[in-house]
Amino acid sequence: MPPDFDTIGSHSAAGVGKKTLPPGAPAISAQNVGKWFGEGDARTVAVNGASFDLHFGEMLFIVGPSGSGKTTLLSIISGILKPNEGSVIVNGQDIWRLDKDDLADFRLNTIGFVFQDYHLFPRLTTAENVAIPLILKKESWSRALAEANKYLEIVGLKERAELPPVKLSGGEQQRVAIARAMVSHPSILILDEPTASLDGDTGKKILAFVHDQVLNEKTCILIVTHDTRIFEFADRIMYMEDGKITGFDKGTI
Ligand SMILES: Nc1ncnc2c1ncn2[C@@H]1O[C@H](COP(=O)(O)OP(=O)(O)OP(=O)(O)O)[C@@H](O)[C@H]1O
Ligand SMILES: [Mg+2]
Repeated sequence: MPPDFDTIGSHSAAGVGKKTLPPGAPAISAQNVGKWFGEGDARTVAVNGASFDLHFGEMLFIVGPSGSGKTTLLSIISGILKPNEGSVIVNGQDIWRLDKDDLADFRLNTIGFVFQDYHLFPRLTTAENVAIPLILKKESWSRALAEANKYLEIVGLKERAELPPVKLSGGEQQRVAIARAMVSHPSILILDEPTASLDGDTGKKILAFVHDQVLNEKTCILIVTHDTRIFEFADRIMYMEDGKITGFDKGTI
């Protein structure tokens, strides 16, 4: 079961406190988010005044050219990269006002993230890589590995469980990263180019699986993609260019 999203942060030592939200309140509300790197002539504006809402039960795609700020925006709304300006409200909580421990709790308990370049640990087996979020949540090794193997089977990699990631193809590593993001039942699943290394059939199969298994009235999914073959899964498509959100389309689902 997904964690009780109504009580985000309430378990932490710092006691963020229970939020009571009006029905229909967004899962994520990004407001005038800005992020730049470097100063003076070397300054690059990666995200420029981005505002959007994402609702529970929704699968939102972010589409835009290379360098338009998609990964930077994902990193900001998942509590990984601090914005220079603006705010990110998740379930009524301004995540960039949380202290370090609460922010770490938020990343662990609420977000599942599939990185564009997978970020698998080379010295761990495939199954151990998938088990990591559960170990961090203080599950026993045996339970965590049993769950990890379940998810590896789901993404078609059961027979690869004992291998290190370096022995897997790019597409297989991508599926391991997807299994790892799903294993702890995050309320918000974020995937950065999840089908880039997959053939059309495998990409669609994985997306259909993610859609059917993860999406419900207490979860939402955010996907960056260039892959028009999977657009059919989107509820809504958001376009970015030069760090700005330039428009929305209704998906076809
Ligand atoms: N750590 C960083 N330091 C300096 N510049 C950065 C950094 N991260 C991103 N940028 C710059 O910010 C801009 C947006 O980068 P970002 O990675 O968000 O783009 P993207 O839309 O995800 O591109 P792609 O489709 O190629 O993955 C780019 O110009 C990039 O060079
Ligand atoms: Mg990117």
